[in-house]
Amino acid sequence: MTSGTLFGSKRRLVLGTLLICLIISELVYCHKDANERKKSPGRKAKSSKPKLGKAATKDTPAGKNKAKVKAPVQAQTLLTQVINKGKFTKVGETISIQAGDTLELRCRGKPVQWGVPPYLEDDDEGRLRIVQNERYGVLTLVNTTGADTGEYTCYPMFCEDTDCRKNHDKAGKVFVFFMDPQELFVPSSDYYEVIQLRTNWPTRLPCQVTSPEANVTLHREYPPVEVPVDGTEISFNIKKGFTIHRPRPHHAGALYCVASLGRLRQSSTKYMLIYVNYPMAPPAPVIQANASSVATGDNLRVSCTVMGERDVVVDVTWEYPGQEIGRPQYTQESISPVSGVSGGLLTQSILLVDEVRDVDQGTYTCTAENLQGSKSVSTTVNVIPKVKPPKP
Ligand SMILES: *[C@@H]1O[C@H](CO)[C@@H](O)[C@H](O)[C@H]1NC(C)=O
Ligand SMILES: *[C@@H]1O[C@H](CO)[C@@H](O)[C@H](O)[C@H]1NC(C)=O
Ligand SMILES: *[C@@H]1O[C@H](CO)[C@@H](O)[C@H](O)[C@H]1NC(C)=O
Repeated sequence: MTSGTLFGSKRRLVLGTLLICLIISELVYCHKDANERKKSPGRKAKSSKPKLGKAATKDTPAGKNKAKVKAPVQAQTLLTQVINKGKFTKVGETISIQAGDTLELRCRGKPVQWGVPPYLEDDDEGRLRIVQNERYGVLTLVNTTGADTGEYTCYPMFCEDTDCRKNHDKAGKVFVFFMDPQELFVPSSDYYEVIQLRTNWPTRLPCQVTSPEANVTLHREYPPVEVPVDGTEISFNIKKGFTIHRPRPHHAGALYCVASLGRLRQSSTKYMLIYVNYPMAPPAPVIQANASSVATGDNLRVSCTVMGERDVVVDVTWEYPGQEIGRPQYTQESISPVSGVSGGLLTQSILLVDEVRDVDQGTYTCTAENLQGSKSVSTTVNVIPKVKPPKP
């Protein structure tokens, strides 16, 4: 039954979630501490969790990064920092300001649009003020804190009539550190952050510090060791944190960063790294009916076969003509290892239709899905009248 397949995949999801919870509860003293931590002032949970989704809807992080690579030279002709009333200074890649002081940036263009760290996007305290003058825009941030640390971007807009577009390539960017003598790390309201380590996919541990002079090291909780940062397997960048370039299962576990500056030494939020065997590509299912024409009353068998990568779960779902009228159909699922060097997995789902009726004629579609995406394949089946045996 198809609903059986659906439940099956849901169950797998639930199991997966349970597993992750088990891992977490083993490594962290879990919710209690998390809740206590939440009371302490810090960035809203919002800023750390749905970062991906949010950035993606505004303007893709990929686009931002591209602009950063392309335009560092032009950028700084656009942006200036206002130090005192009427006194300007050119900005380099970074600026450091004492927390509590005011940040004032000016950007040439009419108009310009500003990008601020996600945490400030929903500034509801009125600390952030943006004004457009005739030939430049001004961004002012008052009563700053270490949490305001991040990248500030200005995009000159190109307008035709009322239709304005951002020019990403010409963006001006500056990374601003708001140095807080008490908080070396940008505060987080989350006690820990769960991060997926995907095969062949760089993983970032942000560990954002509030001062560019802080020395930052990476540590593992159990066993308590400092993780070597060689610049190749794992590298560090003061604006981006640590990057694990090619995650392997041994990188998984509870990690945290330590920052030291002068006599101050502090630990960051914990990062729970969970290794996920990530497929290289979406699955490629193959569908086959054991007959393209079936006589009414006979049985039909449609198979969907997916040759997959080792340790990668593939979910198979079906769409078929009798579905709408609730025709019961049955699936048999099987997963078997494939011998050979690649050591893949063969996933097969077989849809069985007993005593075919007219309503079973049509298109049978099988959709295979893994973490990289999904692919559907179809085949059509004709139903023909049963040839009655000639009467003797
Ligand atoms: C900034 O801080 C000062 C002093 O605490 C306060 O009076 C003022 O209202 C604050 N301004 C904003 C915009 O939050
Ligand atoms: C950072 O570490 C280096 C080498 O370990 C040391 O020489 C330097 O003094 C440290 N800087 C600070 C600000 O602690
Ligand atoms: C197709 O498979 C069904 C179920 O296994 C079987 O009853 C039927 O005879 C098969 N049809 C053909 C043409 O092999």
